[in-house]
Amino acid sequence: MLVEPVLELLDPRPGQCLVDCTIGPGGHAKILAERLGSEGRLIGIDLDEGNVVLARKGLADAPAQCQVLQGNFAELDAILRGCEVARVDRILADLGLSSNQLDDPARGFSFLGDGSLDMRMDRREALSAVEVVNRSTERELADLIYQNSQERFSRRIAKRICQARRAGRIRSTRRLAEVVASAVQVDPGSRKSKIHPATRTFLALRIAVNGELENLRSLLREAPKWLAQGGRIGVISFHSVEDREVKLDFKRRAQQGLYSIVTKRPVIAGPAERADNPRSRSAKLRVAERTDRPLEACLETE
Ligand SMILES: C[S@@+](CC[C@H](N)C(=O)[O-])C[C@H]1O[C@@H](n2cnc3c(N)ncnc32)[C@H](O)[C@@H]1O
Repeated sequence: MLVEPVLELLDPRPGQCLVDCTIGPGGHAKILAERLGSEGRLIGIDLDEGNVVLARKGLADAPAQCQVLQGNFAELDAILRGCEVARVDRILADLGLSSNQLDDPARGFSFLGDGSLDMRMDRREALSAVEVVNRSTERELADLIYQNSQERFSRRIAKRICQARRAGRIRSTRRLAEVVASAVQVDPGSRKSKIHPATRTFLALRIAVNGELENLRSLLREAPKWLAQGGRIGVISFHSVEDREVKLDFKRRAQQGLYSIVTKRPVIAGPAERADNPRSRSAKLRVAERTDRPLEACLETE
């Protein structure tokens, strides 16, 4: 996704140290590792054990020194300390899900097909979407659906979920999609609705199950202290709530004198990529560069 703009704007160079916070199956990482060359170092992180295995395989003969760890980028401090690096030159976060996660019904991320309502990126975690859907109060559900996805029918959807679960736990993605569709009274196959009526509810639940906004905020908070002078951070987001977090963080850091913003506007996929990969249509890349201002100078404004 957005490979060319990532290469151009993140601009990794031979010998640098790069952290790919969301290595996934390793698509970006493989190309980035080529750029880093034999003197470079790439540290890859992912919550998903399956993707960690895929990325390790994909990078087995990459020229750079590559290390792929299962972990949460929210714990960037602990991860980088564990890797014994003092500073990094590039940070990339390509948020959300990889296609293999989304397309596997057993993971429960998609309302297309049927699967158990799981949605955990890290399957070692206890909380899955089944618990959130069946245990939250109507108010909690309405709030999380609205806050995480700005779904305008959040209250109606929450009410319908609570009614439906009286007849038994909602355990499958198909059942949840039907309940949501019935709440907004849109035929999922209708040509009039641009997106499936359950799209936003599924997104909101996934964000809640995986603590995605908290994770992003934590990464954005920790990034400036790890970036070397002239180091760059690039974040690809897929929905407006995330993009807003990134935009506001970069703006605030720029006001503090810690970043200069490389992308005045978010970079989006070109027509060819959009036609080739419909998921790229919502992708937005923002990049910022670390200035030479010491972090301590800004602590009082934190
Ligand atoms: C869009 S995919 C990345 C694809 C990758 N850039 C590639 O080119 O193959 C996002 C990945 O980020 C992972 N992820 C999401 N949130 C994470 C977090 N807080 N910490 C670590 N990995 C995370 C997901 O498990 C998924 O594998």
